[in-house]
Amino acid sequence: MRRERPNSAREVSLRPVAAADLDAFFAHQADPIACELAGFTSRDRASFDAHWRRLLGDPGERLAAVIAAVIADGELVGNIGAWGPADERLVGYWIAREHWHRGIATRALTAFLAREPVRPLFAHVVPSNAPSIRVLEKCGFVLDTRATNAEELTFRRDRPGADRGASPTA
Ligand SMILES: CC(C)(COP(=O)(O)OP(=O)(O)OC[C@H]1O[C@@H](n2cnc3c(N)ncnc32)[C@H](O)[C@@H]1OP(=O)(O)O)[C@@H](O)C(=O)NCCC(=O)NCCS
Repeated sequence: MRRERPNSAREVSLRPVAAADLDAFFAHQADPIACELAGFTSRDRASFDAHWRRLLGDPGERLAAVIAAVIADGELVGNIGAWGPADERLVGYWIAREHWHRGIATRALTAFLAREPVRPLFAHVVPSNAPSIRVLEKCGFVLDTRATNAEELTFRRDRPGADRGASPTA
């Protein structure tokens, strides 16, 4: 049974990203403490807008991105998504700092995995990002020792019981 913290979000859901969400996503990725945790260099507004146009744009886009807004107790708190070709598809997520440690990323990733069919699914994480590593492990990702290096850990999620030697989409 999941142990609830007093400040755990009561309800976490995903919905399609709306243009009006982008100001909030821009602020989330501009947070220097969050960037330090994620090992991420924030984008300025022009490159942020170009990046999101690419993510949300052309459905024939090679990235085939699937991105969702994360809603906790009715409030927009972050985003989660997957992108890239089937044999190297990546997942990523970002939750606003004022909502950290409320179990939101874990529940958002659990919900996202139910709707994103591609396996394996990979995640790159800097080794110091302990909360993200914990989220991934709770959601069934395991360290991919073949792809990991000192600067960046790679986690992967296969289908339950899948043979790692089998076809990557098995
Ligand atoms: C990483 C991030 C998504 C986590 O979001 P969150 O909603 O706070 O995550 P959750 O509350 O679902 O779970 C966090 C887990 O990490 C644990 N944790 C937090 N700090 C920790 C630490 N220093 N060491 C170990 N575990 C830690 C929490 O206890 C919790 O695990 P538990 O439920 O077993 O107690 C959020 O910090 C974030 O958006 N960071 C900036 C962007 C980023 O890092 N994205 C991921 C890039 S790979």
